[in-house]
Amino acid sequence: MESEKTQSLLAQCDELNKQLTALLSVTSDLASELDFNALFPLIVKKITDMMNAERTSLYLLDPDQNELWTKVAEGIDTIRLPIGEGISGRVAQTGEILNVEDAWELPFFNRHFDKKNNFRTRSVLCLPIKNHAGEKIGVLQVINKKDKLRFDAQDEWFCKGLAAQVGIALENSLLHDEMKLAFKKSIQTLAATVDAKHPLTAGHSRRVTDYSMKIAKKMALPKLSQGNLYYAALLHDIGKIGISDAVLLKNGPFTPADRLEMNTHPTQTEHILNNFYFPRTLRHVPWIAACHHEKIDGTGYPRGLTGDQIPLESKIIAVADVFDALTSPRDYPKYAFGKILDYKIIPIEKSVCILKKDIGSHFDPDVIDAFLSCLPEITFDTDNAR
Ligand SMILES: [Fe+2]
Ligand SMILES: [Fe+2]
Repeated sequence: MESEKTQSLLAQCDELNKQLTALLSVTSDLASELDFNALFPLIVKKITDMMNAERTSLYLLDPDQNELWTKVAEGIDTIRLPIGEGISGRVAQTGEILNVEDAWELPFFNRHFDKKNNFRTRSVLCLPIKNHAGEKIGVLQVINKKDKLRFDAQDEWFCKGLAAQVGIALENSLLHDEMKLAFKKSIQTLAATVDAKHPLTAGHSRRVTDYSMKIAKKMALPKLSQGNLYYAALLHDIGKIGISDAVLLKNGPFTPADRLEMNTHPTQTEHILNNFYFPRTLRHVPWIAACHHEKIDGTGYPRGLTGDQIPLESKIIAVADVFDALTSPRDYPKYAFGKILDYKIIPIEKSVCILKKDIGSHFDPDVIDAFLSCLPEITFDTDNAR
């Protein structure tokens, strides 16, 4: 008898140990994923597996709309439910755990989704997700326990632990997304402010960034490299705020002294950006931006770098930058083939000829190849984005 009791206690201990190990493992998995779009399906999968259930639904609270929302899959519209309606809506409203053997027995259960999806919801364990301040931020709904008729007290205890981890992971991820968005918007505004100093350069940095990103995608640049390119392209001309208005706003050809002053802008860009705080993943931005006027034959500025000394991202910006300058109006003349061309917009075909002529001297051949293959998308943008 005594031995039976011991055996049972040992089995319970073993089960508890397994659950705690699983909880620790899911905690570290969720904590290491900050991208909200990746975290959402990860939570759903982990909870379904660990609770030995058929399905899991994760809803987030939208207090402004008094609704819950969830996403089924990438690219599919979100599903929205009013707070107070259905199982999840009730739990969102009351903040109480709901654990039932058969959802169809509940008067407020909406059978519509089951009928539509040819599914039968039976046992449901539904609990609120709270943030570190104890505020409700969502609802977790685990459906159809696989090996039992319903979720028991131990499942409830375990799922509460999971929901607490989900709450922390969701808060971190939402905070991370907010900070990323705030950073991106500030940089976009800064770049637009510099461009707006002159009416003819308005939108230049945004267009150069758009073209650069299209080229980078065509060349299948790694994600990290694309991130650095994005911000370097947006900020490549920020050093122009250090150029005198007499030169920057000059209506007419530059004197050698004007040109000398204008050519200091990449160095000024580098100095300004070196004083920014970029996250570790974006630490190459100042250097990439500083090299956007270098040419692969070494005749560019400010350093006269050649070939591989110039980052690939800078070579991409160089093509996008010259293409935008050619296809935009300027109040200083454009030079090509050794002569003054025009102050006005140069047609796309002619601009492409000018770029092609400088393959191997100014421009990297692989970048020009990628640029040419996404030219239809780029020219569509030039027609529509101004
Ligand atoms: Fe520039
Ligand atoms: Fe530029």
